[in-house]
Amino acid sequence: MPLEITPLNAPLGARVRGTRLKGDINPNHFQIIQQALLDHHLLLFPDQDITEAEQVGFSGLFGKLEIHPSKEHRSSVQQEIYRVSNVNEDGQIFSVDSYKAKYLTGTRIWHTDSSFRAIPSLGSLLRAAEVPPEGGETYFCNLHTAYEALPRHLKALVDTHCAVHSYDYIQTLVFGEKAHSFEQHEDLVQEHPMTRSHPVTGRTALYVSPHTISEIVGLSAEESRPILEEIYEFATQNRFVYEHRWTQNDVIMWDNRCTMHSVGSYDSARYRRVMLRATVSGDSPVHR
Ligand code: SIN
Repeated sequence: MPLEITPLNAPLGARVRGTRLKGDINPNHFQIIQQALLDHHLLLFPDQDITEAEQVGFSGLFGKLEIHPSKEHRSSVQQEIYRVSNVNEDGQIFSVDSYKAKYLTGTRIWHTDSSFRAIPSLGSLLRAAEVPPEGGETYFCNLHTAYEALPRHLKALVDTHCAVHSYDYIQTLVFGEKAHSFEQHEDLVQEHPMTRSHPVTGRTALYVSPHTISEIVGLSAEESRPILEEIYEFATQNRFVYEHRWTQNDVIMWDNRCTMHSVGSYDSARYRRVMLRATVSGDSPVHR
């Protein structure tokens, strides 16, 4: 079957048809997909009724897979799968007041995956196993074009500064305090440049993650806040953003080195939303 790649009518992304995602995918297809990811930053694969093992097998072709810091959100079938879900593995929707439900609200804040690690994520692959009839869209922002359009004063700042990315900061935003202790402690706070050169294409992207950045290095948290807000507001304008309305068995792969994403709200007490994510580890961000 020929592989069909069609750009989306959006600031980023392409639709890919004609292959099943799995570890032993046709190598020629894999090469074309790798290039398409570099060209479009986000790939939508519709109709992927694949197993968690197939998802992990395919994702693992891009690099080492991360294990999510929150043990409660890992799949018991494949520990490399992070369940972004309001439904337990036994099929019950969990209470909106529960820790697990509150934790998930963090995904509604813009972010790029694993920026709190020394080696953040190259890319993530998310499969829609169950989707709500309304709401729960995912928004993806193109951080190359956002960077290129930045006003001069913000570009000068992000070109010359690093920011502190902290896993605890997500906890603070969601719970108002550090609510949980995790198995991995050493790797969950990092300074990264606020722009990065894509390690393959060399193109510069803004590198910010609103749900993990506590402050700009060299400025206090209070001094940093209005500057960060100005950058986030600029970068997340509609002209840089693709909104995806999910259909069951869509898989989306995005490049975390030049995009960020956030989830739209939905009635999580009423509707089921089960998304399964594999996260590929990448490179240390550098700006050349
Ligand atoms: C995520 O933040 O990786 C999850 C995105 C989603 O659930 O749509």
